[in-house]
Amino acid sequence: MGGEEARLVQEAFESNYIAPLGPMMEEFEKDFAQTVGIPHVAALSSGTAGLHLALHVLGVGQGDEVFASTLTFIGSVTPIMFQGASPVLIDADRATWTMDPDLLEQELEACKRHKKLPKAIVPTDLYGQCIDYERILEICEYYNVPVVADAAEALGATYGSREKAVGSKQEGVSSKQETESSKQEAVSSKQRHAGKGARASVFSFNGNKIITTSGGGMLASDDEELIEKARFLSQQARDPAPHYEHTEIGYNYRMSNILAAIGRGQLRVLNERVNKKREIFDYYETALKDLPGIEFMPEARYGRSNRWLTVLLISPEEFGADREDVRLALEEENIEARPVWKPMHMQPVFQVGGVKVQGLRLKTREGKYRARVVGGEVSEDLFNRGLCLPSGTAMTEEDLESVVSVILKCRRYMGLNVSNYD
Ligand SMILES: Cc1ncc(COP(=O)(O)O)c(C=O)c1O
Repeated sequence: MGGEEARLVQEAFESNYIAPLGPMMEEFEKDFAQTVGIPHVAALSSGTAGLHLALHVLGVGQGDEVFASTLTFIGSVTPIMFQGASPVLIDADRATWTMDPDLLEQELEACKRHKKLPKAIVPTDLYGQCIDYERILEICEYYNVPVVADAAEALGATYGSREKAVGSKQEGVSSKQETESSKQEAVSSKQRHAGKGARASVFSFNGNKIITTSGGGMLASDDEELIEKARFLSQQARDPAPHYEHTEIGYNYRMSNILAAIGRGQLRVLNERVNKKREIFDYYETALKDLPGIEFMPEARYGRSNRWLTVLLISPEEFGADREDVRLALEEENIEARPVWKPMHMQPVFQVGGVKVQGLRLKTREGKYRARVVGGEVSEDLFNRGLCLPSGTAMTEEDLESVVSVILKCRRYMGLNVSNYD
């Protein structure tokens, strides 16, 4: 917690607004809309609820397809099944680890030829890295398919305009040597918050996120009508009448006034949290980047990640130990680290049919729900080699040092020449 949350919760208690709605909710929504620069928002019980409501309002239903990132958390795609639709899972771009815009475009073109475009696209801002909003929004506008941005992990992250991002350096990804100041220049002054520009976007305040209300989410949109409809559905679709009148089926998805009080306090420390997350990333990167076989998650040239989690890739042949060796060595020291999200197309819950991309294989898998995958090899590789390091903002330098020292030792135990790092 940032420090003011308990006082704000106390204020909510004193006002006696405990049940869902109340003044804290209104203030939280106002503060949030201002923070992200998206005018209309609805505070909800979770990010998953937000995605569900967005798909519902956009009319996603039985027999529809919805495109999503395959490299993501399950909550990003479950709402597609809630609506009886089926997911088309698009692979990641190696330069950003987020949805590959080229694959998206190819697949939309193929769908257009078959006269069956998806009902929506739900790309994920992964680990606080924005998708390539400019390109993805442009492509989806061309095909007239709405984008619901899953910005659950990306509160505090921004993206800038492409023109400014093009320079002498390779487009799409920052080099390891790039300084923070050249980065600032590259991302331009016209920064937009993650989620801005999409038809709707969703944020999560789950306990593990950059700020939390213990559990909760926010649906945001430039479209007032969309948010009004989602708000109505989130409160059991109660029609305006003195008695309880229903002409539609809704959900019980609203956030409570008490949790909104926590959210208001948390929003006040968001910038601080982003800075701390970025410092944590810099610490790990400085300590480990020169090791053979270690690569850090790149930062897209067009944006500024909130570095929600520091994630690295371990190539076993060069490093001398694989991702699992390192994870288990950390666990031995009571340090929790986790593999990168297991791609959705590898999840046993899906029966996956593959789409051939550049001559690569077609694949099928048995599972309860049907899905299609477009590509998949990049996400599989990131899952096999990727490790999320402890990134909590309460970590001290000593904590970070101990994580680094375990990783360095892993290399040592493999009997390789590590004299430079002793
Ligand atoms: C990418 C992504 N999408 C969706 C969700 C779902 O959010 P929630 O847990 O608030 O339902 C999460 C996190 O939990 C997430 O990381």
